[in-house]
Amino acid sequence: MSFDVLSVREDFAILKREINGRPMVYMDSAATSLKPRPVIDAVLDFYENHCANIHRGVHQLSQEASELYEDARYTISRFIGAMEREIVFVRNASEALNLVAHSLPIDGAVLTTTAEHHSNLLPWGRRNEVIVVDISPTGILDLEDLARKLKGNKVGLVSVTHVSNGLGVINPVKQIGEMARAHGAYFLVDGSQSVPHMPVNVHELDCDFLVFSGHKMLGPSGVGVLYARSEHLESMEPFLLGSDMISEVHLDGFKLANIPWKFEAGTPNIEGAIALGVAVEYLEDLGMDAVRAHERELATLALEGFQQMRNVQLLGPTDPDIRSGVITFKRPNIEAHAFAKLLSNRYSILIRSGFHCAQPLFETLGAGESCRASLYLYNTTEEVAALVSAVDALSQVV
Ligand code: ALA
Repeated sequence: MSFDVLSVREDFAILKREINGRPMVYMDSAATSLKPRPVIDAVLDFYENHCANIHRGVHQLSQEASELYEDARYTISRFIGAMEREIVFVRNASEALNLVAHSLPIDGAVLTTTAEHHSNLLPWGRRNEVIVVDISPTGILDLEDLARKLKGNKVGLVSVTHVSNGLGVINPVKQIGEMARAHGAYFLVDGSQSVPHMPVNVHELDCDFLVFSGHKMLGPSGVGVLYARSEHLESMEPFLLGSDMISEVHLDGFKLANIPWKFEAGTPNIEGAIALGVAVEYLEDLGMDAVRAHERELATLALEGFQQMRNVQLLGPTDPDIRSGVITFKRPNIEAHAFAKLLSNRYSILIRSGFHCAQPLFETLGAGESCRASLYLYNTTEEVAALVSAVDALSQVV
């Protein structure tokens, strides 16, 4: 079945919004996605019909809430090819990365890349040396540099983004994982910008860890996922202590709960996890191959359009096979924030501007701040044409 974007859009009430009397064009999904009706309904349904704490009550509502929460864990595990006990609910990908950085004994340096989100750089520096792999001027990872740095250093963990949030570059993570494994290093994939947009399976990637955020994949904010191989979760110490992550507590000691619960101290974002499960079912119904194909079509149009512009610099690769729906550009001599504001004020097109939480990437490229339009399954070819035409028109006059 072909991807019916108009019918998808019917599920997103917010897409009917107007800004300054014009239809809103939302192109900031790499920052956060919009939410479809079933996800919003799941949050409402929890509060209206099942509101209770989980794993703490034998009463009917608590049983229902616990079941919905654990069903969501199962749905998410199926989505990425994991086992339920390998799925830890956290607040977001940043928290998942911090959890691993805190709890995993890493013997050696952490090898990451220049193109990472700050959350895949800063946590590693607390306990380990951090070595970064170079990128090309279009943001492509230098695999020879990666091989050199793996060979020349004692590396305990390789941690790489699957898709760059700054430039949309799709990294060859399977190959990187093989290289990491050949050197006896753990392998972590930051799937924040891939899991929402393309098929991702932890067995195909052969990764030790995968992290992602719910709010970028149609789910609510404040819930994210750490996938880790069960043997790692068994051996890692929890990051937070207290509440429900124990099986027993005495004044002189305690016993941890089983995985994954030993990592979920405190009342979690129950309705968030449940609604994330619904978001995953929504994505599964569309089919992740279809989602990727739709976004690839949109990216192709955008990349073609931006390459025609004389006054605008397109950042990142132009091959849609190695690029997600993240389109990053600059109008030299105009501040990125000012340009984004003009797009919002004059065309009602909403994009992000700045360093996109990846300042070292843009400093390395010598690009400074930039504008970023990030597309998702509800965007249309007409909207991409409107973006290209608005950027072109604005760059002639400002
Ligand atoms: N990490 C998010 C982004 O790329 C916030 O915009």
